[in-house]
Amino acid sequence: MLHHDAAPLRVLYLGGSGTISASCVRLSVETGMRVAMLNRGRNEKDRPLPDGVEALVADVTDDAAVTAAIGDRTFDAVVNFLSYDAADARRGFPLTVVRPSHTYDDANPPLPGGWTVVDRIARGAEVPVHGDGTSLWTLTHAEDFAQGLVGLLGNPRAIGETFTITGSDVYTWDQIYTIVAEALGVAPRLVHVASELYPVVAPGWFWSGEVLGDIGHSAVFDTTKIRTFVPGFAPRLTFHRAASRMVAWRRDHPDTTTADAATEAVLDRIVGAYHAAREVYRAWGAS
Ligand SMILES: NC(=O)c1ccc[n+]([C@@H]2O[C@H](COP(=O)([O-])OP(=O)(O)OC[C@H]3O[C@@H](n4cnc5c(N)ncnc54)[C@H](OP(=O)(O)O)[C@@H]3O)[C@@H](O)[C@H]2O)c1
Repeated sequence: MLHHDAAPLRVLYLGGSGTISASCVRLSVETGMRVAMLNRGRNEKDRPLPDGVEALVADVTDDAAVTAAIGDRTFDAVVNFLSYDAADARRGFPLTVVRPSHTYDDANPPLPGGWTVVDRIARGAEVPVHGDGTSLWTLTHAEDFAQGLVGLLGNPRAIGETFTITGSDVYTWDQIYTIVAEALGVAPRLVHVASELYPVVAPGWFWSGEVLGDIGHSAVFDTTKIRTFVPGFAPRLTFHRAASRMVAWRRDHPDTTTADAATEAVLDRIVGAYHAAREVYRAWGAS
């Protein structure tokens, strides 16, 4: 019994090097688990992982490659970061569903437009904010999410259950942009753009769909259940602290945090359309 209890939990992460999963892998290793991750090996330079993680390389859509990569290894728990809906989830084995909301890490700021927006804020360019900037949003740092997920591993009571894992800090979008600006040591220049106009001025931009169907709405979560199952779950990173870390990451990783020309052009167009519309409103107001 003692021998069994002392054995490290063997965990396989499908994914493992992404925004959310890299923090979970790190925390699993810190807590003494024996960890393997399976992915295509494209992300590792962005997010260094601890020694001792076994890297298996395969595309999850290629069953034969996955089977070959896993070989005769066995695991106590498999965390599938590449399963988004019920159709993705393979049936017939004990399952726990974990639902993150908007989750970011130091390498991936949670702003529509990512590092390009951070760059605009830093140099004093105007930044569009959807709606009137007052809808409520819950942001979770991946390190906080990891506390909840890793705490569930190996717990048979979690089988068949569904968990929402988010941080507990809720912000308006104006606050989110302002906190990033404060971390950069500048005042933000925000312009408010009706959510429904994003797909009009920027059709095809990923974030236009998100503004309309996701982040344009308020989202606040009840995390009582994960706190009950994982008593140690206690999100630590307020967005103020996380924003300082992202700014430090940007300073230390200039190669991967630069503005992207295509995103810059989209943001210029949204801001330009805002000012053009404002002129129309001004003219109508004066008539
Ligand atoms: N971040 C959020 O706010 C959020 C919110 C709700 C739900 N989710 C869901 O949570 C999951 C993880 O999100 P994330 O933000 O951490 O994603 P991510 O940063 O894109 O990471 C994806 C991970 O999966 C691997 N991967 C991607 N395609 C693969 C493939 N075909 N075969 C093998 N490995 C593959 C990637 O490594 P390689 O590229 O090297 O293969 C990486 O390790 C996703 O299902 C996402 O939809 C995310």
